[in-house]
Amino acid sequence: MEMKETVLKKFKELFGEREGVKAFFAPGRVNLIGEHTDYNGGHVFPCALTIGTYGAARVRTDRKLRFYSMNFDRLGVIESDLDDLVSKKEAGWTNYPKGVMWAFEQKGFLIPNGMDFLIYGNIPNGSGLSSSASVEVLTGYMLRDFFGFDVSNQDLALIGQYAENNFNGVNCGIMDQFAIAMGKEDNAVFLDTADLSYTYAPIKLDGMKLVIACSNKKRGLGDSKYNERRSECETALAELQKVIDIKGLGDLTEEQFEQSKTAIKDPVRVKRAKHAVYENQRTVHAVEALQSNDIEKFGQLMNASHVSLRDDYEVTGIELDTLVEEAWKVEGVIGSRMTGAGFGGCTVSLVKDEAIDRFIDQVGKAYLAKIGYAADFYVVEVGDGPRAL
Ligand code: GLA
Repeated sequence: MEMKETVLKKFKELFGEREGVKAFFAPGRVNLIGEHTDYNGGHVFPCALTIGTYGAARVRTDRKLRFYSMNFDRLGVIESDLDDLVSKKEAGWTNYPKGVMWAFEQKGFLIPNGMDFLIYGNIPNGSGLSSSASVEVLTGYMLRDFFGFDVSNQDLALIGQYAENNFNGVNCGIMDQFAIAMGKEDNAVFLDTADLSYTYAPIKLDGMKLVIACSNKKRGLGDSKYNERRSECETALAELQKVIDIKGLGDLTEEQFEQSKTAIKDPVRVKRAKHAVYENQRTVHAVEALQSNDIEKFGQLMNASHVSLRDDYEVTGIELDTLVEEAWKVEGVIGSRMTGAGFGGCTVSLVKDEAIDRFIDQVGKAYLAKIGYAADFYVVEVGDGPRAL
C-alpha cells in the first residue's frame, strides 16, 4: 500500500470516518557540503530527499489537538490543546508540531480550531536527515492549507526554525527547514545564509548515487554540543570584529582569516572559526566544480570537509570517522563525509553505481567489527519540497 493510503487508513481507524481529512508530505534532507556554516552567515548546499514524513490531518470544531505517530505506535494518541502550547518533555515528538503552531501564533496567525494529526515518516529517526525539520515544515504546510495563512514556503522554513529555536531550545540555523520547504526534484539548494539568497543547482548524477550510512549512534541535538559550537563561533566572531569589519565568519576569505586570526584569544576557538571560514569557501568551490562537471573535485572537497569537521570543529566521533574513513578506502567512492550536526547521525557518500554493493558490504563489515553494532545504508534520491497529496 502506498504511504498516502496507509496514513489515511490509520487516520480513519483512529479518528473516525468523517469528511475533511487531507494527506500531506514533507521531505527529509541531506546536506552535500557546507556544514556548521548556516549560523555563521556562510553557504550551505543541501537537497531534499524523496523520503520524508507523510501526514493526515483534519480540523476539529473544538480547540483540542490529538496527535498520533505511526513511528511510535506504543505512545498511542497524545492529546493537547491549542490553549496549552508549551514545550513539555513528556510531550515527546509532539513538541515539533506544537512548536510550529505556537510559532504561527507568535507571528500573528491565530489558529482558530484544533485538529487531529497523524504522521508516518520513512526517514530513519535521529539519523541526521532532519526528521524533525520535516515534521515542522509538514505542520506549517498543513496549517497554511487548512487556514489559508498568507505565508510563502520560505516563511514556512523561517517559522519552523523559530519554533526549533524558541520552543524546542535548539539553536539551529536555517539550513534544514529551508532545504525541506524549498526542495526541488533533481536539484540541490545553494543558499547564502547571510541574506537567504539562493539558486538551484541541478544534481545530475550520471552513473553514481548518493548513499547515506547511518551510524545508529543515538543522539539528540538538544543535549549535544551543538549549542556550544555555536557560541564558540559567536565569541570568535566578536573577537575578530575588533580588528575587521565583518557581519559573520562567512564574510571572510581564507587569507583574511589567516591575517586576522590572532585576534581570537583561544586556540580552540581559532580552530572552530577556521572551520567555519574554510568550509564556507569549500562550499562555494564545490558548487563551481559541480557546475563545470568536475565531480572528482566535488568529491575531494567533500572529503576535506570531513577532515575539517573531525580535526578543527570536532563534531565527528569514532562512529562517523569509521564510516567515512572506510568509505574512502573503497574504489568507486568519489567523496564521503559526515552530514548534518554530527556527534552521531549519518554520512553521505557519492558512489559509482558499480561500487554501491561493494561499498555497503565493505564499510558495513568494518563498522560492525570496530563499533560493535551495525550501520544502516540507504541509497537516496533528490526529491521535491512539501506538498498536499
Ligand atoms: C543541524 C542544524 C542545521 C545546521 C547543521 C550543521 O542540522 O539544524 O541548522 O547547523 O546541523 O551544518
